[in-house]
Amino acid sequence: MLSELNGKTALVTGASRGIGAATAVALAANGCSRVVIHYNSHAEGAQQVMQRIKAAGAATEALQADLSTPAGIRGFRDALRATAPEVDILVNNAGFLVQRSSFVDFPEDLFDRVMDLNFRSAWFVGQECAPAMVRKGWGVIVNLSSIAARNGGGPGAAIYAASKAAVACVTKGMAKELAPKGVRVNAVSPGTVDNHFHQVFSSREMLDNMLKMTPAGKLGSDEEVADTILFLCSDASRYIHGQTIEINGGMFMV
Ligand SMILES: NC(=O)c1ccc[n+]([C@@H]2O[C@H](COP(=O)([O-])OP(=O)(O)OC[C@H]3O[C@@H](n4cnc5c(N)ncnc54)[C@H](OP(=O)(O)O)[C@@H]3O)[C@@H](O)[C@H]2O)c1
Repeated sequence: MLSELNGKTALVTGASRGIGAATAVALAANGCSRVVIHYNSHAEGAQQVMQRIKAAGAATEALQADLSTPAGIRGFRDALRATAPEVDILVNNAGFLVQRSSFVDFPEDLFDRVMDLNFRSAWFVGQECAPAMVRKGWGVIVNLSSIAARNGGGPGAAIYAASKAAVACVTKGMAKELAPKGVRVNAVSPGTVDNHFHQVFSSREMLDNMLKMTPAGKLGSDEEVADTILFLCSDASRYIHGQTIEINGGMFMV
């Protein structure tokens, strides 16, 4: 339990599975009194996560939105204003590679969807939540970047990598503006997490190759990333602003 989280409302986007689900449950188990979760297609997963949040003692509700279009992001902002206008902790976790495609074949609509989901949504959902944090003089925003931002991404993932590099960059801009107002903004940058994301986009052979490049001798888990996000939400990280914390078992060290 982290006493500084007592009474706080958290919002975790993309919390129907994976890193977001583990983070939402961890925030509830560590003292948040309300954890609002967002999902897109996996309503059943969202229901299961809500059960786990309630079992941990927090109130919860789920909001559905496709964040891969500007209209979807605007609709989500409207829903937030009606349901949870005062979020203290925002975890901008929703993200996806969407589809692997080579540079020469990459279609314009895919470019927009990848950038909107991974980058635009973090910026504008943050813009929705920040004013209440500033009014209270306390708030935390954690964005999800990726190791892809550092190494350019795997096959057909250049725009996903670019979107995650943009997330790491605006994390600094957000932090510079909000730090004097009591709001801390940071990012986490996972390496390869062995979860739904890679079940969709990577073969077992690709994952085995990534494992060979990982000094820790294992791929990451949702809970290991959630623990780092929890640290960034806690007072233990109170002097950390604008940083992107790499969590990758040593796969990338520079
Ligand atoms: N897994 C990795 O190795 C890895 C590495 C680096 C960074 N990341 C980042 O970590 C974050 C969480 O990913 P994960 O690994 O936990 O993957 P995941 O298990 O596939 O979960 C992705 C989450 O994002 C949501 N999402 C997907 N498309 C969406 C859309 N169009 N609109 C709104 N929400 C959408 C999903 O919602 P539904 O399931 O309800 O559709 C789900 O809750 C992402 O930002 C990802 O880019 C992951």
